[in-house]
Amino acid sequence: MAAPGGTGPIGPFPPGVDTEAERDEYDKRRRRVLWTLPSGLYLVGSRAGDERNAMTLNWATQLAFDPKLVGVGVEKAALTHRLVSEGRVFSLCTVARDDRAIVRRFTKPVEVDLVAMTLNGFGFHDGISGAPILDQAPAFLDCAVRQEVDAGDHTFFVGEVIDAGFQVDESTPVLRMEDTRMNYGG
Ligand SMILES: Cc1cc2nc3c(=O)[nH]c(=O)nc-3n(C[C@H](O)[C@H](O)[C@H](O)COP(=O)(O)O)c2cc1C
Repeated sequence: MAAPGGTGPIGPFPPGVDTEAERDEYDKRRRRVLWTLPSGLYLVGSRAGDERNAMTLNWATQLAFDPKLVGVGVEKAALTHRLVSEGRVFSLCTVARDDRAIVRRFTKPVEVDLVAMTLNGFGFHDGISGAPILDQAPAFLDCAVRQEVDAGDHTFFVGEVIDAGFQVDESTPVLRMEDTRMNYGG
């Protein structure tokens, strides 16, 4: 996925990378290296008031043992960004490896049906934070935002885990980026 609004190489450039051609080559190399960073693939549930959303995300990681902090990098233009920023909560749901098709269903704002309790037709329930959790997620972390770190075109939301659970057999293999042909980053 291209950098938003990116028309050319973004600096700073290391020594010896001076010409436009060198910068272009460096930019492409840096992107290929970034693509090799291993990552998981998740659905992030968000909620502000009555508004709910869920989106595919791979920029997620644990940050501390004590307290239990996890961080997610969310694009500023995304609906999820507004909901997490306003609602101060999010859920991080894993995806079963044999359920990989679902990630393509959560790359734009979802259709919420509060009667059927579905997001894009997929059953959900609200976690104790109020953020939606997909019923078919193998496991979830329910988080309360403790910090919001500005990260250029994204915001890194740091959340404290306030609930966690398995919804299927704990040994169910979970999806990683490398199981797909997709990438996000670079
Ligand atoms: C494989 C994959 C990984 C993604 N990872 C992220 C991510 O880590 N952070 C992010 O902001 N958007 C990520 N996206 C993009 C979002 O899923 C989504 O397209 C966009 O942010 C809009 O979401 P919205 O429904 O909240 O508006 C990823 C998309 C794909 C297909």
